[in-house]
Amino acid sequence: MSALAPTPAWQGLQLQGMTEAWLEPVALLERQAYTHPWSHGNFSDSLRAGYHAWVLVEGQELIGYLVIMLSPGEAHLLNITIAPPRQGQGLGLHLLQQGVTWARLQGAQTLWLEVRVSNARARSIYERYGFKTTGLRRNYYPLAAFKREDAIVMSLPLQAGQSL
Ligand SMILES: CC(C)(COP(=O)(O)OP(=O)(O)OC[C@H]1O[C@@H](n2cnc3c(N)ncnc32)[C@H](O)[C@@H]1OP(=O)(O)O)[C@@H](O)C(=O)NCCC(=O)NCCS
Repeated sequence: MSALAPTPAWQGLQLQGMTEAWLEPVALLERQAYTHPWSHGNFSDSLRAGYHAWVLVEGQELIGYLVIMLSPGEAHLLNITIAPPRQGQGLGLHLLQQGVTWARLQGAQTLWLEVRVSNARARSIYERYGFKTTGLRRNYYPLAAFKREDAIVMSLPLQAGQSL
């Protein structure tokens, strides 16, 4: 996909590295955004494991966050979240672009992710960005009442020279 012009809603927002100090607000926002949220421990484990994580902030207010795991030759988008009142303004797509740009600069050749089959909004931004469905993980995510939901596996090639 070609470079996205920053959405007007991006004005005044800043991306910063996620530090321990952000973990409480991140875990709180996570509970507001997901039926099956990551725990505070999942985020602190991610930082300890050396995953790369950013917060999108407006002053001291948390607007969103992104977590990416880098491994030789590839990157894995583990979490992308925008605060519910700020969703639908183009921020998620733009935050995704920041992650893609970063992963490409690290030399990753592919960016992978999993998404719930039912998550139409997230699937829409990934498809718009150029991710292709490459597989299905059956019963990957928990659902209510001990049911499970399939994950769609998507990937985006990040070849050198591909325009942002
Ligand atoms: C997924 C998420 C990060 C997207 O961020 P966002 O800021 O809401 O997304 P954007 O505003 O950039 O783009 C939304 C796009 O999805 C489309 N969309 C919105 N609701 C939709 C729906 N129910 N079905 C299909 N598409 C939808 C919009 O039309 C928009 O496209 P447009 O720009 O052509 O109008 C955000 O909604 C979120 O945090 N959701 C909860 C957490 C989550 O599901 N994270 C992803 C886990 S894989």
